[in-house]
Amino acid sequence: MGRLDEKIVIITGAARGMGEEEAHLFAREGARVVLGDRRDDEGREVASRINEKHPNSAIYVHLDITSEDDWDRAVAAAVEHFEGVDVLINNAGIIRIAPLVETSAEMFRKVIDTNLFGAFLGMKAVVEPMKKRGGGSIVNLSSVQGLEGRVGMPAYTASKFGVRGLTKTAAMELGPLGIRVNTLIPGPTKTAMTRRKGWTDADYDAAYGKYPLGRMADAKELAELALFLASDASSFCTGADFVADGGVSAGKPRD
Ligand SMILES: NC(=O)c1ccc[n+]([C@@H]2O[C@H](COP(=O)([O-])OP(=O)(O)OC[C@H]3O[C@@H](n4cnc5c(N)ncnc54)[C@H](O)[C@@H]3O)[C@@H](O)[C@H]2O)c1
Repeated sequence: MGRLDEKIVIITGAARGMGEEEAHLFAREGARVVLGDRRDDEGREVASRINEKHPNSAIYVHLDITSEDDWDRAVAAAVEHFEGVDVLINNAGIIRIAPLVETSAEMFRKVIDTNLFGAFLGMKAVVEPMKKRGGGSIVNLSSVQGLEGRVGMPAYTASKFGVRGLTKTAAMELGPLGIRVNTLIPGPTKTAMTRRKGWTDADYDAAYGKYPLGRMADAKELAELALFLASDASSFCTGADFVADGGVSAGKPRD
């Protein structure tokens, strides 16, 4: 028996990184997955690789999470192909690195628009279909930068703190409908978002050598936590922060 048997899951930003790992793991656990992204070729490729192993368990939809129309189409596709929505993983996100005074208004808006407004639109879009299924689980991706400030990341930090607040309010409003809403807080993870030119795995880990686990995460490790929050194993969890950061937010690293 899979841990997500019978569950229909929408995952945003599923063309690569954590979203892709979540899609593979969830399908292996019995879910039918709707993969959304703006990277259509890569997203379709991920869906077809999943279907090779788990026939008819994945579809790809073009979903720019900042577009209400795209959300309507993605939810309609989930209902048409798989008969509903049980889980939403609001995973897609972007980062822009620049000090406050060098962050343009346009750059700031873009990050908030994607990371915060996109998650808001997603939650709104799935409430009705989840109600019809008797409840559901929404997982919103924040970051360690949603727990503490970081030099050079004003927009990203603001967006990821915002996600946590939005999650808590949504959990309070949607709990009576049987819809749980939680925040997943990853620490530094080896994906395209954090990739630096010429870096090896050892370089990545060295950058976090002072923290308790002394390395970056593999995206698969974050997918495991997303699986817990998506599944009925977390049936009494809502409105909460779930951290998987290798101890980065536990305290100041040693000198
Ligand atoms: N990698 C890390 O170290 C790290 C740490 C903490 C939090 N996070 C968060 O985890 C989530 C996943 O990050 P990742 O590392 O896998 O990133 P990634 O860049 O590897 O993948 C992000 C995906 O989101 C998609 N995306 C971006 N904007 C979109 C939009 N408007 N509509 C639809 N899709 C869009 C991209 O096309 C991409 O496929 C993000 O929310 C990120 O902020 C990442």
